[in-house]
Formats: sequence, C-alpha cells, structure tokens
Amino acid sequence: MPAKKIILDCDPGIDDALAILLALASPELEIIGITTVSGNLHVDKTSKNALKVLELAGANHIAVAKGAAKPLLRPLPKDPFSHGEDGLGNTFLPEPRRSLSRLHAADFIIQRAEENKGEIFLVSTAPLTNIALAILKEPNLPKWIKKHILIGGIYGVTPYGYANATGLSPVLEWNICVDPEAAKIVFNSGMDIIAIGNDVTTIPSAEFKLEHLRRLTSIKTPITKFAEKIIRYIIDRGFPMHLHDPMAIAAAVDESLFKFVRLRVDIEIHGTLTCGQTVTEHRKRFAWGEEKPEISVAYDIDAKRFLDLFIVRIQSLKPSEEGMIR
Ligand code: BDR
Ligand code: CA
Repeated sequence: MPAKKIILDCDPGIDDALAILLALASPELEIIGITTVSGNLHVDKTSKNALKVLELAGANHIAVAKGAAKPLLRPLPKDPFSHGEDGLGNTFLPEPRRSLSRLHAADFIIQRAEENKGEIFLVSTAPLTNIALAILKEPNLPKWIKKHILIGGIYGVTPYGYANATGLSPVLEWNICVDPEAAKIVFNSGMDIIAIGNDVTTIPSAEFKLEHLRRLTSIKTPITKFAEKIIRYIIDRGFPMHLHDPMAIAAAVDESLFKFVRLRVDIEIHGTLTCGQTVTEHRKRFAWGEEKPEISVAYDIDAKRFLDLFIVRIQSLKPSEEGMIR
C-alpha cells in the first residue's frame, strides 16, 4: 500500500512534538509538510519548535510553513497548562539551522491539496485557525481533502471528557476554545472529519505512566532521551501525561485503533461560560437534520495497542548524524 500523504498542522508543544516524532517513525505515512499556528505558544515559537524537532530527528527535508499568529477574531489566550518556557519542556534544543517555507500555512495547505486532490490526510493537533483560513480562501478545499483528523473538543461520549482549558470553564477543550470561530467554519465545512476529543485522549488506560517511560527509555537514543525529558516535564509536576496529539497520528496510521460514532456537532461562539464548546446532538434527527454534516467522533481506543505502537516507534527512530542534538 502506498504511504498516506499527511499535512500536520500543529503548535509544538510537548505532545505535538511527540506527534511529529511518531509521524516520522511511521512508514505508513508520508509527511508532505508541517504547518504551524499560535496555540500552546505564539506561532513564532511553535514554528521554531517544529524545525527543531525535525532537525533533532534528521528530517530536514520536510517543509515547515508558518501560519496564523492569532485566532480569527480573538486575542490568543495564555496557555494555562505550561509546556515550558521554550514550549518543549525546557529542553532548549539548538536553534534551527534552516528556514521556514515562504508560503503561509493556509496557502501551503491549499497548494498541496490542489496538487494531490483526494489524497491528503490533514491532521490537526492545534487550534483550527489555519484550516479555517484555507477554507475561506479556497472553498473547494474540503472536497480536495481525503480526511481531516483533528484533536479537539469534548463530546460526552465517555465519562472522561474533562476540560483542559483550565480556569476558563469546566466544559472547554483547549484547541477548540482558543479559536471557536475557526472551529465553527471547519466543523460545518462538510470535510470528512474524524474528531478525537478529550473523551478519548484522557481515558485513564491510555495515560503514559512511569512504567511506560521506563520501557521507552530502555533503548537509549537521542530521540528517546528527548522524549523522556519532555514527558518528565509533565509527570514531574504531578500532571497526568496524556498523549493527545500522537493519537491523531495513530489514527492516520491505523483507524482500527479507535471506535467511532457518527454525530452532528456545532461550536458555541457566544456563551460566557461555553464559548468554544463542542455542542453535540446525540440523537439522529432532533435539533439538527440532514443540513448539518455528520462527523466521526472517537469514543474508545485500544489503549494497549496504541501505547505499544507509540513506544516501539519512538524507539525505532534513528536520527541521522546531521540531525543529532549538538
Ligand atoms: C490539546 O491541547 C494542547 O495543549 C495539546 O497540544 C493538544 O493539542 C489537547 O486538548
Ligand atoms: Ca497541540
């Protein structure tokens, strides 16, 4: 089977960095490019971090296109869950040696999708600003994209959808709440969407625990050492290590790791407590009918298979001399 072509839109970010590494270690995927956006940190930092992680892994052939500096209509909120001063768990990787693509992320996505109509898997692990901008600029984009796999939202499909836009509201997930207007455009675009929300990314059996860290670091490479440092930055502060963003890559590799339900979802953009909530119709034909597109929402994961895949693949990644930590 030919590799699936993916564009990863991200905001590294600790779990985004792990998602990049998992994608690089997955032969089922061909990374067409990485696009970056403001989210966990300002886009200047997330872009630099994408370049740094690629360089660490010796993957300097992959283009990085920088995108939106702020949400469509709102200021960028401050991330209440710190990914560290550098966004990568204070590992302070060396400054990248190469430059960003000359294209804006939205134009990069449009251009590559037009060149590869019906083939691109768009994987989003960040606020949806770049994707919405691309749709606004090129209304045909949703038809050109094969699938859009995104990390975001809380859908009430498991008991575990806890809010992580901490301090803002008890019902909000970070990626959607940062740019609700962008999410509204994307969720109503008719794109073939797979959404993996906190319902599944925070399932206790999929938490990355110290026992998993021990297994991961039983093989010492620059990549496993880096992964250990950024994961410890979270665990050592007493937070659970949820592998949110690597789950999007895992879904691109093998959808059968997840179970999905077809649901209609829209985004609240006004509420004082709920702005950015993924409002979900669990019944078939009540509040909304055919006029609102259904999307696939993950409601379960084969946690053991996912964690095994993650560990083995990160261990297998061998950086070239050129990309090693200097
Ligand atoms: C999302 O929030 C961000 O902090 C993570 O990188 C992930 O994309 C999960 O809610
Ligand atoms: Ca992210």
